[in-house]
Amino acid sequence: MSQTKRRRVIAGNWKMFKTQAETRAFFSTFVPLVSASRHCSIVVAPPFTAIPAAVAAAKNTNIAISAQNLHWEKEGAFTGEISTGMLVEAGCRYVIIGHSERRQFFGDTEETVAKKTKAALAAGLTPVVCVGEHLSHRESGQTHKICKAQFDGGPGLLTPDEFSRVLIAYEPVWAIGTGRTATPEMAAEVHKFLRQLAAEKFSAKLAEALRILYGGSVKPDNIKGLMAQEELDGALVGGASLDAKSFASIVNFTS
Ligand code: 13P
Repeated sequence: MSQTKRRRVIAGNWKMFKTQAETRAFFSTFVPLVSASRHCSIVVAPPFTAIPAAVAAAKNTNIAISAQNLHWEKEGAFTGEISTGMLVEAGCRYVIIGHSERRQFFGDTEETVAKKTKAALAAGLTPVVCVGEHLSHRESGQTHKICKAQFDGGPGLLTPDEFSRVLIAYEPVWAIGTGRTATPEMAAEVHKFLRQLAAEKFSAKLAEALRILYGGSVKPDNIKGLMAQEELDGALVGGASLDAKSFASIVNFTS
């Protein structure tokens, strides 16, 4: 299938960075730099406290706001957690689920990733479900095995209709925050594998429509090479999304 049929998504994951004031400052520089960009969907994921400031700053622009996590219950005695209803009311349209930092440091598992993904979809949010192997997995030839387990235990459990509304982000853990990007060919190889899993589990049609983003040390100077790969339907950018000019130049990789 030709690339043009899958709309690309360039998303910034701010992780635990930026206050509300810093968020407003970011958007005042960023919005004019990307307002003419039509070739991709643009998403920014601030920390929870900065979501309202981001939503206000992105109002009437081509930028959508994402959360970085959620809880699957609608409400309850879950100290420190945020529900889908709260995110929707705040103006979020996307939510990142199962980021490797959450799997590694905060106990996210295949099971909670699946629950969170279903809850996000039920609330009308677009989940960006993250998968990816650690360096030891890659070095011992287990990349496919790990990605398959994460796919099967998460997006693979959805109904076909639910699956059609999910984005997947392939983020090799060894490439996150290390400056060590997967080569475009390495990323494309895993994307192809994930697409094949989607075809086997669901259908060729849903697999062809599935958007898979690459994440891990994406920078203004490597985005073009990565996006030259037809298998890569966009990027999930960490560090380089914190600076408005740098993230805008990633978004505007075609110019
Ligand atoms: P970096 O771009 O800082 O490597 O982070 C990638 C990431 O984890 C995005 O979710």
